Formats: sequence, structure tokens, C-alpha cells
Amino acid sequence: MNIQNAYNNWSQSYDNDENLTRDLDARITRKTLERLQAEVILEIGCGTGKNTGFLAQIGTTVHAVDFSQGMISKARQKVTADNVHFSTANLSEPWPSADKSAGLVVCNLVLEHIENISFVFSEASRTLCDGGFFFVSELHPFRQYLGRKANFQRAESRIEIPAYVHHISDFLDAARQNGLALKELHEWWHEDDEGKPPRLISFMFEK
Ligand SMILES: C[S@@+](CC[C@H](N)C(=O)[O-])C[C@H]1O[C@@H](n2cnc3c(N)ncnc32)[C@H](O)[C@@H]1O
Repeated sequence: MNIQNAYNNWSQSYDNDENLTRDLDARITRKTLERLQAEVILEIGCGTGKNTGFLAQIGTTVHAVDFSQGMISKARQKVTADNVHFSTANLSEPWPSADKSAGLVVCNLVLEHIENISFVFSEASRTLCDGGFFFVSELHPFRQYLGRKANFQRAESRIEIPAYVHHISDFLDAARQNGLALKELHEWWHEDDEGKPPRLISFMFEK
């Protein structure tokens, strides 16, 4: 199943499935970004809008994009704030955003599905105002080395969504090559992860 179809399918249960990674990401995103404010926020790969309602509280305007119609239609039902605008876009193609138009670009649990993350970093950098921030939270590559990837249950089958491994150095190289400076790097564990490698890694980059 390709990535887009997989997310269209998963959209039916994404919010209700047990998913420690999704829940941890929601917590650390709020913890990290609650001190920020931005006139315009671009959320890439917004999914069902798990983080979009929160972003609407710290941004004057939020543009939220995703390439799955299924995911975005759930987000539209859930997040009805007037300052949020949803649209469909493929992040591996030029983004529908103007140069220097956003103070914050936010990306949660998306880049494992994108082969060329350098392109995403170049589009984030192009879209950000000078001094703007790019927040990235992803499944930690240490987990990917163990074979973990986004997956969901359908009937008797566990469906794994195609994923690419990006090493920590890949994120840092892509940022540096696109004029984004690392301000923060954190590794995160869920309470149930004792003795295991970190579940998530997050980066805050500044243009
Ligand atoms: C695991 S979900 C995360 C959704 C949301 N950010 C969250 O944290 O709950 C990954 C999302 O990335 C989207 N996605 C993956 N590849 C994409 C691409 N090339 N262009 C746009 N969206 C993409 C999927 O459709 C899906 O909604």
C-alpha cells in the first residue's frame, strides 16, 4: 500500500487507536512550543489535526497541509478555529507557500515517509522569515534501526507504512545546507519506555 492510501485508510482510526508515539508527540510539542508565538504558522503533514488546535492558540494564522484527503477531512471536522486553513499538498513537491511568509514551520511524525528530507528543509527555509523557527519531531532513528515504523491494525493484518531511515546527521546536514541553525535537540521517552532507546527526537532550528 502506498503512503497516501495507507494514511487515507488509517485516518478512520488514527485518533482512537492505542499509539504511544502519537501521544508522546502531542505532549512534547506543547511543552516545547507553548513559549512561542508566531503571526503565521505552517504545519506540514498535519494529519487529523492532533497538534493543529494547539498551534491555533500560539499563532495568529495557521496553514495546515497534508497529502491525505482522509486525514485532512478528519482534521477539518475536529479543528474549527477561524484562524486555521487546511489544504492538500505533497511535501515532496514545491510547497504552496510564499517566500518568508511564516514565523514557525512545524513537522511532526512525517519525515520518516519522505525520502529526500533535504528538499523539505530547503522548502522550510524558503518559507521561513529571517529569525523564524523550524520545529521537527520524529520517530527516533535508534527505533528505526530496530525496524520500527508507523503501522496500524486492519482486521487480522498489521499494515506497515513505507518509511525511510534518516540518521541524526542527515537532519543536521540538511538543516546546515539550507541555512538553518540548530538551537535545541531533545530525545524523548514515554513512561512505558524504561530501558528502551528513545522513542522520539525533536529539533528546533532557527533561520
Ligand atoms: C503519522 S501522521 C502524523 C500526523 C500529525 N502530524 C500528527 O502528529 O499526528 C503522518 C502524516 O504525514 C502525511 N504525509 C506523509 N508523507 C507526506 C507527503 N509527502 N506530503 C504530505 N503529507 C505527507 C500523512 O498523510 C500523515 O497525515
